[in-house]
Formats: sequence, structure tokens, C-alpha cells
Amino acid sequence: MALAHSPILTVTPNPALDVSTSTPRVMPESKMRCGPTRLDPGGGGVNVSRVVRNLGGRSLAVYTAGGPTGQAYRQLLDREGIASRMVGISDATREGFTVDETLTGEQFRFVLQGPELSEPEWRALISAVADDFPVGGYVVTSGSLPQGVPADLYAQIARIARDHDTRCVVDTSGEALQAALDEGVYLIKPSKRELRELVGAPESDEIGLIEAARELVARGSCEVVALTLGGAGAVLVTAEQTLRLATPQIEVQSTVGAGDSFLGALVLRLAQGRSLVDAFRSGVAAGSATSSLPATDLCRAEDVERLEQGLQPTPV
Ligand SMILES: Nc1ncnc2c1ncn2[C@@H]1O[C@H](COP(=O)(O)OP(=O)(O)OP(=O)(O)O)[C@@H](O)[C@H]1O
Ligand SMILES: [Mg+2]
Repeated sequence: MALAHSPILTVTPNPALDVSTSTPRVMPESKMRCGPTRLDPGGGGVNVSRVVRNLGGRSLAVYTAGGPTGQAYRQLLDREGIASRMVGISDATREGFTVDETLTGEQFRFVLQGPELSEPEWRALISAVADDFPVGGYVVTSGSLPQGVPADLYAQIARIARDHDTRCVVDTSGEALQAALDEGVYLIKPSKRELRELVGAPESDEIGLIEAARELVARGSCEVVALTLGGAGAVLVTAEQTLRLATPQIEVQSTVGAGDSFLGALVLRLAQGRSLVDAFRSGVAAGSATSSLPATDLCRAEDVERLEQGLQPTPV
């Protein structure tokens, strides 16, 4: 039985049918024989929903899909047993292609071009979100926006959230992130690179990034910044505190989906009524648990529970 928690809805305007495989070495001109192919329904919001499910929670995933890749996507997602609403589009759902080079352990990730949405299509996506709005819970908007979609799509959803006692969580970059912050949201989860791009901080200036995160909170753009630092862990910034957490000891296999795992675990714990600090620990544990698994595998509950045991955030 899933634990009781407040409702979670994830929004994925630009999902990707993830195709992954392996080959001994990536080389020009010669044919590269590949190992078994794996297909996953990927993309930010849907990955968050898959992690929530893996950790024993429930969510509704609202996503767009079109063309033959969209059909395959829908089948795969339905098989995962995640409640979802598909908004049909006429262009084809994009694909992501990941190749693990087995001789070196290097990973090559190709992100193929995505669809262009018409105005009726992106408006239908907003309507689908509004129809099942997670009143009193969490709406998680995640990933890039497809072409044709206005940069304020997530900001529009944030506005609906404000009117419905719902916390809006945003994991995106560039203009879409800026627009959401201008509207005001509950939480953002930038990676180092994404926050650097947003505030124009110089390379490797971590103190500057933390200051910039505090400034966003002080200005009322968001209540929480969960800044993730890849293998260096994460920093949590609120009006009251700034906490830092290093990652647990793991052997890294594939970091695909690490950020989505961080966010899925964090949001589920908050929806379960746990404290922000506890949710932060689960987030870091989940990101690292996913990083310790091969290819596109996402974290499992027992790994997250084991890894979060030893995690103790320290004030910055
Ligand atoms: N190499 C790693 N070793 C251990 N844990 C990791 C590693 N990479 C990521 N993680 C875990 O996953 C979390 C999120 O990772 P990261 O900061 O790379 O976000 P991301 O959203 O996947 O990045 P991006 O959007 O730039 O691809 C980290 O806070 C950490 O807990
Ligand atoms: Mg990310």
C-alpha cells in the first residue's frame, strides 16, 4: 500500500523516449555492434513520477506525446503503472540516445531534436494540468520547453498554484526558470550550471552562487533553493538557513536521472509531511542511489533508506 500523502502532479511538456545501449568503443566509420537496447519513458516530470512510485508514493504525470515515438512512450509509461494524462500533439515525441562505452566506462548522451507545439496544444496541456490540480499538494514542472511553447508556461502553472494552495516546484533553466521566478514559486532545483547561467556568476564561484540563491529567496522569487552540485552533493537555501550535504560514499555508474531522483524523493517526503531538512537528506541519497545504478535505472526505496542513514547536513 502506498503511504498517504498530499497530492503530487508532475508536468512534462517535452518528454523523451530514452533509448540506451552499450558498445565496447565509440569510433568513427566502423560499425559499432551494440549490446541489448533498453527503452524508457524519460523526461524530467515523468522521471520524478517514476521515482515517487519507486519510493512507495503516488503521483499523476501529465505529458505530451505524438507520432510513433509518442505511441511507444505511452505504452512504456502505462506499463510502469503510473497514473497519467497524455495530451496528444501532432509532431513526434523526441528521443534521447545514450551509449555506454564499456571499455572506458564513458557515457555518450545524444539529445535528439524535439517537437514543435501549436498554441492549442500547449493550451491543452495547461488545461489538463488545471483539470487535475493537486490542491493542497505539489505541482512539479520539469524539463525544457518544446519549441512553440511560451517561456512563461511554468509561470502560468505557478499562478494557478498560488490560487489553489499548491506548492509549485520548478526544475528547468534559462528563460523558463526566470519567468517562473518572476511569478514566484515554492522551490527551484538548479544544478550549478543552471544557477550560474541564471545569475551570471563566474565559473567555480560557489560562494557567489550561494549568495545568489539567498538573494532569490530574500526577493521572494522562491522560498527554497535546492542547489545540486553533482558529485559534490547539494546546498539547501531558505530564509532561515543554508545547509550543505556531501554525497554518501557510492561507486558511480550512471548519473542519468540523478537530478530527477533528488527532486522526486524531496517532493515525496515533503508531501508525506516530513521536514525540509529530512526531505533534503532523502533527495541527496536518492540522487546518489540513482548514480550508483547503471544506465537509465532509477533509485529504489531500500537504497535510499540505507544511504540517507549517515547523512547529516552542516550549516554553511
Ligand atoms: N557523481 C556523483 N556521485 C554521487 N552522487 C551524485 C553524483 N552526481 C549526482 N549525484 C547526486 O544527484 C544529485 C543531483 O545531481 P546533479 O547536481 O548532477 O543534478 P542534475 O539535475 O542531474 O544535473 P543536470 O541537470 O545539470 O544534468 C546530487 O545532489 C547528488 O546527490
Ligand atoms: Mg537537472
